[in-house]
Amino acid sequence: MYSTVCHEEATLLAQQIQVQTGELGQRLKGDVYLDYAAAGLYTNTQIDAHAEDLKEQLYGNPHSLSSSAQRSSDSVEAAREAVLEFLGVPKTSSEPVFTRSCTDSLHLIADMFPWTANRSEYKYLLQNLGVPQSPLQPLPRNHNSVLGIRDVARDASVEASVVESEKVDDWLDRLATEIDTDDGPLSLFAYPAEENFAGQIFPLRWSQKIASRQGRLKNWRVLMDAAKFTASHPLNLTEAQPDFVTLSFYKLFGYPTGVGALVIRSATASELKKHYWGGGTVSIAGAGRTASDDVKVFKGRIAEKFEDGTVAFLGIAALKHGFTALEKVGGMVAIEKHTSSLASELHHLLLDLKHSNGEQVIAMYSRDRGLDDGRLVQGPVVTFNILETDGTLISHIEVMADAAKVTCNLNKHCKVHCTLSASANWLPFICIPAPKRPGSI
Ligand SMILES: Cc1ncc(COP(=O)(O)O)c(C=O)c1O
Repeated sequence: MYSTVCHEEATLLAQQIQVQTGELGQRLKGDVYLDYAAAGLYTNTQIDAHAEDLKEQLYGNPHSLSSSAQRSSDSVEAAREAVLEFLGVPKTSSEPVFTRSCTDSLHLIADMFPWTANRSEYKYLLQNLGVPQSPLQPLPRNHNSVLGIRDVARDASVEASVVESEKVDDWLDRLATEIDTDDGPLSLFAYPAEENFAGQIFPLRWSQKIASRQGRLKNWRVLMDAAKFTASHPLNLTEAQPDFVTLSFYKLFGYPTGVGALVIRSATASELKKHYWGGGTVSIAGAGRTASDDVKVFKGRIAEKFEDGTVAFLGIAALKHGFTALEKVGGMVAIEKHTSSLASELHHLLLDLKHSNGEQVIAMYSRDRGLDDGRLVQGPVVTFNILETDGTLISHIEVMADAAKVTCNLNKHCKVHCTLSASANWLPFICIPAPKRPGSI
């Protein structure tokens, strides 16, 4: 399988196998876990370090003034810095707000974006797969959690529509040259840094164009869903300067679950409209019985204003061990090389498979890795259906059940449940079980 990987990649692979044997071996119990899309794997060292930390240190609720509270606050602040460093975002330009997940972060934006009825717009991405087997219909290439924003926008009487990925640059360039006569209302463009159906990577330059605020772009804000991309690629957002970035940490290093981030650009934060407010976000709050009593004063700092209630401070304390685990295997550059070389090998091996009658075994929907302007355009995702000898598709449920029998963990979850808009186009293929025939693989 690995015969064509280059020397550097082979070395990485050897390191990875070493790490796996020591760190994951017992847990895997012979299973093959290929998932870099739905959830990463935590290492034993990472969990041991976190457990030691919790056993040795007293962590209190960060909203109080005790030394244990201070320890939690310090650990949360250190985690914020680590997140910014990981994303290549200067500390002065943005601040991470800790949330429960990427979805929770997206939900917050949907609720707090300053939609103006009949004047704001919400745009999200539509894209053709650009591979021979792709259906004719283009696909919305956002996760459900991004698509769901459209109903919040529509409830606020805001038009929600798609923009095809081939047309995004022209659309943004046109907005940049149009003279802007008014200072609002604000509109939102959302796209994934990498989509999770077929692993296609989208350019950071779209975000950079919006950040230029030229012409009518000054009324647009950009939301980058980085949940999938950050699992297997280095990210440097210094130039791109998205207004909002969302991610979930279990995708990066497996543990903890229940902790995500919404990174908000400082210049944009004051535009968000907070409706609900909870503990910790206000410095003064009246009981609301009379007009004079109906007051609240939000705290000034971004994180303080947008983190309702107590953040998951023990989970957040685990993040530093997760980031260390990534460094131990060479950091995101090494992880990108390793995962993309494996995905490329798998892509070619699958495409080479032939039935005994010479027919293709695989209908492939993801692409091989490739570069555009020196950047990868394909993440480590291999999306395919298995074909019968006559070219009909075998149900993915049957394929997964057979794979599970040989302890291979395939991920159908995100393909079918989380990017329904994309997989719906394949439903006739994916979901109709085909009878097994002799001679098929
Ligand atoms: C591109 C993308 N966006 C958003 C999400 C949602 O992440 P979560 O379920 O952690 O909120 C995922 C999860 O698979 C994803 O791949």
